Amino acid sequence: MSEQVKKIGVLTSGGDASGMNATIRSIVRYAIYKKLEVIGYYEGFKGLILNNYTVLTGNSVGGIIDRGGTFLYTARSEEFKTKEGLAAAKKNLDLNKIDALVIIGGDGSFRGASDLSCLGINSVGIPATIDNDVYGTDLSLGFDTALNVIISLISKIRDTASSHERIFVIEVMGRNSGELAIRSSLASGADYVLIPEIKVDLVKISNAIKNHREGKRHTLVVVAEGAAKATDVAASIKLLVEHEVRVSVLGHIQRGGSPSAVDRILAAQFAQKAIDFLISGGRNAMVGLQNNKVKTVPFEEVFGAKKQIDRNLYDLTHILAL
Ligand code: F6P
Repeated sequence: MSEQVKKIGVLTSGGDASGMNATIRSIVRYAIYKKLEVIGYYEGFKGLILNNYTVLTGNSVGGIIDRGGTFLYTARSEEFKTKEGLAAAKKNLDLNKIDALVIIGGDGSFRGASDLSCLGINSVGIPATIDNDVYGTDLSLGFDTALNVIISLISKIRDTASSHERIFVIEVMGRNSGELAIRSSLASGADYVLIPEIKVDLVKISNAIKNHREGKRHTLVVVAEGAAKATDVAASIKLLVEHEVRVSVLGHIQRGGSPSAVDRILAAQFAQKAIDFLISGGRNAMVGLQNNKVKTVPFEEVFGAKKQIDRNLYDLTHILAL
């Protein structure tokens, strides 16, 4: 049986995602309710190396539930990947008498947590990334908010596309994952979606758009950044189609902003599960949502497989665009 947990550290790591603040708030308040002490490390793993932290109280996390970003800040630390970086983090954690860490981030951040476990530092992970690409959870924090931002932007673009009878190529985030692209396309009635998981044939798509144009005032093509550059897709379409083509790269507008209700509620549920898991002696796993139930998934399982896209949603986007 593992030792009793009395004091925990919390940090946010990797790209910021909406709902991180709501999660920190829930972690702190639920942990205090369970009689634990909490400190927050600034700038993710970098804060562990520099021993840059703050003591968190119930009041210190007031008024942040609706704020995007992360008030503990975040970073992608290269130093943490070195032996020396890990050793410095371990030394500081021991100094502060931290029994376990709560890591809020994507699977890259959980790999960092897993490296620390080799030195005897235990963690629980909370998935937070707008990419929604973490295996073992149907939803990651920040994804629903980003999706809502994207569909509201695509609606605005459709107004212009339709008024001017144009084709728009809209680039959304997703380096290795088509999750944002597929779901935003389906939810906004886009005509085509290009994702990294399915090989892109620009000539075929351009031909399809050409044939598709008749009777349409607008054509919306959503492309995940990891599939192709929107400018290349637009150039290819221009070669075959006479209508005006415009490009809109949504960029970091997709990542910030006040979290949706879904993300705020998920933040509270994930935090509760994470703290209960640590108190019950659980270690080195991520909390995740599976079929509407909050579960824990061992880190090895999270790292062992790649999250699959929902092929039906991808096909449905194209079927419904006919
Ligand atoms: O992983 C989240 C994400 O927003 C990706 O979709 C995107 O490719 C990347 O982060 C951008 O990272 P940065 O903010 O470091 O440019």
